[in-house]
Amino acid sequence: MTRRRTAILISGRGSNMESLLRAAADPAFPAEIVGVVSNRPDAAGIGRARALGVRAEAIDHRAFAGRAGFEAALDARLRALGADLVCLAGFMRLLTAPFVEAWRDRILNIHPSLLPSFPGLDTHARAIAAGARFAGCTVHVVRPEMDSGPIIAQAAVPILPGDDEAALSARVLAAEHRLYPMAVALYASGSARVEGERIAYGRGVRFAEVASFGPMPG
Ligand code: GRF
Repeated sequence: MTRRRTAILISGRGSNMESLLRAAADPAFPAEIVGVVSNRPDAAGIGRARALGVRAEAIDHRAFAGRAGFEAALDARLRALGADLVCLAGFMRLLTAPFVEAWRDRILNIHPSLLPSFPGLDTHARAIAAGARFAGCTVHVVRPEMDSGPIIAQAAVPILPGDDEAALSARVLAAEHRLYPMAVALYASGSARVEGERIAYGRGVRFAEVASFGPMPG
């Protein structure tokens, strides 16, 4: 098996990055993490990656006059790493269409909502305010429009009475840490691939067949 050479882009704490690094520490995992790049030099995730023995560095977006310059440096770095797949993990810079198209079908993102509901920021507060009974997370292939693109995998969690943003985000984050490695494994192995702006799955991929209902009468 050739493992897909994968870079991770972060901006902050890097807990999803760490879940990918830990999964990829298994030589049977179909993606190999070749490096971590942060657009913020103070991102806690840089130290976390290095502690796990992975090369990590910052390309400070503020050092560039515009997005094009930053993205050219990022592109060069990814190519120098020999990356063939890029995982956004709490990467908070919007990538422009030319960059996304240059890496078409090779950039994945995790978003903390059940897309297409609640793209953008503050997803948990918005889901609670809307009275939604389920929240969750989505791993998708990146397209130039923010938080859109073919959906690879999703996890749903309940929104419980009394949940505030912190409680819900902790519940969703635990699901994120399980979902992202699963989705990357599916995509890097070719078991999930883009076909006509949706994902087609290979044989042997298992689907949840049990629905969740809630709330229920007591
Ligand atoms: C996660 O909730 C991710 O879904 C979102 O930003 C957060 C990043 O957290 N895009 P971490 O840096 O992975 O801990």
